[in-house]
Amino acid sequence: MKLLKDFSKTLSSPVFKVLQEVIANSDAKGFVIGGFVRDHLLNRSQKKDIDIVALGSGIDLALAVQKKLPGAKGVQIFKTYGTAMVQWEDIDLEFVGARKESYSKESRNPEVKPGTLEDDQNRRDFTINALAISLNPEDYGTLIDPFNGLKDLEQGILRTPLDPDITYSDDPLRMMRAIRFATQLDFTIDSASFDAISRNAHRIDIITKERIVEELNKILMTPKPSKGFILMEKTGLLKRILPELIDLKGVEEIEGQKHKDNFYHTLEVVDNLCKNSNDLWLRWAALLHDIGKAPTKKFKPPVGWTFHNHEFVGAKMTYRLFKRLKMPLNEKMKFVQKMVFMSSRPIIIAEEQVTDSAIRRLVFDAGPFIDDLITLCEADITTKNPERFKRYHNNFKIVREKIIGVEEKDHLRNFQPPISGEVIMKCFNLKPSREIGLIKEAIKEAILEGEIPNEQKAAFEKMKTEGKKLGLIFHEKTI
Ligand code: CTP
Repeated sequence: MKLLKDFSKTLSSPVFKVLQEVIANSDAKGFVIGGFVRDHLLNRSQKKDIDIVALGSGIDLALAVQKKLPGAKGVQIFKTYGTAMVQWEDIDLEFVGARKESYSKESRNPEVKPGTLEDDQNRRDFTINALAISLNPEDYGTLIDPFNGLKDLEQGILRTPLDPDITYSDDPLRMMRAIRFATQLDFTIDSASFDAISRNAHRIDIITKERIVEELNKILMTPKPSKGFILMEKTGLLKRILPELIDLKGVEEIEGQKHKDNFYHTLEVVDNLCKNSNDLWLRWAALLHDIGKAPTKKFKPPVGWTFHNHEFVGAKMTYRLFKRLKMPLNEKMKFVQKMVFMSSRPIIIAEEQVTDSAIRRLVFDAGPFIDDLITLCEADITTKNPERFKRYHNNFKIVREKIIGVEEKDHLRNFQPPISGEVIMKCFNLKPSREIGLIKEAIKEAILEGEIPNEQKAAFEKMKTEGKKLGLIFHEKTI
């Protein structure tokens, strides 16, 4: 990997000029450290969080910097951690005193003691995150790299500065971070680290679900999340975090009939989807679309392997999984559930003769999410047979075209009944009753079947006919 080692432009920006001046006029020393340095070297888009390590009081430095940055917000001080934050424009500057840390076995909360810069670098997660740049007058702009982080960056390796068993056991979230960085940067986890993660995987249980999900989301937002999920599986983290996916692993054979390995299939679907959608929740839907297959799997001769109702079961599991991981139980969860529940519908349609009414029903049921659903189904095509691959994709092309046609005509995406219950009640002089539901349902069915267009006039006529069938008397004068 070619690294961008020239910091001069970055270090001459207004924020760094102020930092330089404040540090030069204080007793403290200061260094930029961590993700900002790493991302600069990798030429990744410039981070807006800048971490500054201070030898001396980080809080005093923060206060002095805040005074010199016009419009900077007041300093936020976190006394217990000895950290202070200054926000200026869209930049967050975080100041922290250099420290040695030791963590307790039961929680992530460290006991903090002051230390040297090297102590501070040493206690960080990876050598590539321990790189620091001096902001001090004697060597402004010099890279300080006691653990060969630069070499690891160049070679694409994630390695811990300390013995990895200590680094991961100190803060088990780092195991997820290792896998997340490996996926985001397409790096390799050093083998000693990989073994240590495997040994310490159980320690992930002390990490809050929210932090774990943050890492999962970052993995899902990479171009090829499968790399991260395979690493999680191999190290034993996945079975503690998402056992539902582990249950999809493996191929069974009975009477010469095999089913596919739904774990690897799922990962392929996720990777495929990522080429066409940046939506985190649709990516979650791809990850979970087959989870109902493990509990519903049965071998039924002569049909072979069946996963009856797996979409329904999968949608129920989605709710429980979101709840367990303390993910939002709001419309995002409902969206994922809906995608899981409907994930086979377009496939069935595409395989058969595509009728207009089938398309209408699909659009009606998927509502505003119809395009997402088709995108998910296209990603679900993982056949290695080129002829079939082409045919399935082509079928979906036809489905998409038909959806456009149906939409132009009938606007079913956000379906509102063209005749309300109130109108029906007035026309037939009815109190709230079963008949109203029956008439509304008959109108909807007629529209979906293509018997009548999705228009008020036609729906009104249909209402009259249905009322008559039910023996109701139509009151002309009421309208
Ligand atoms: N760090 C650590 N252990 C952690 C979290 C963070 O050692 N569990 C250190 C690393 O040096 C890291 C720095 O704190 O570079 C800042 O952490 P953070 O802002 O969470 O991550 P970044 O590395 O900046 O990267 P990203 O924003 O992609 O998470």
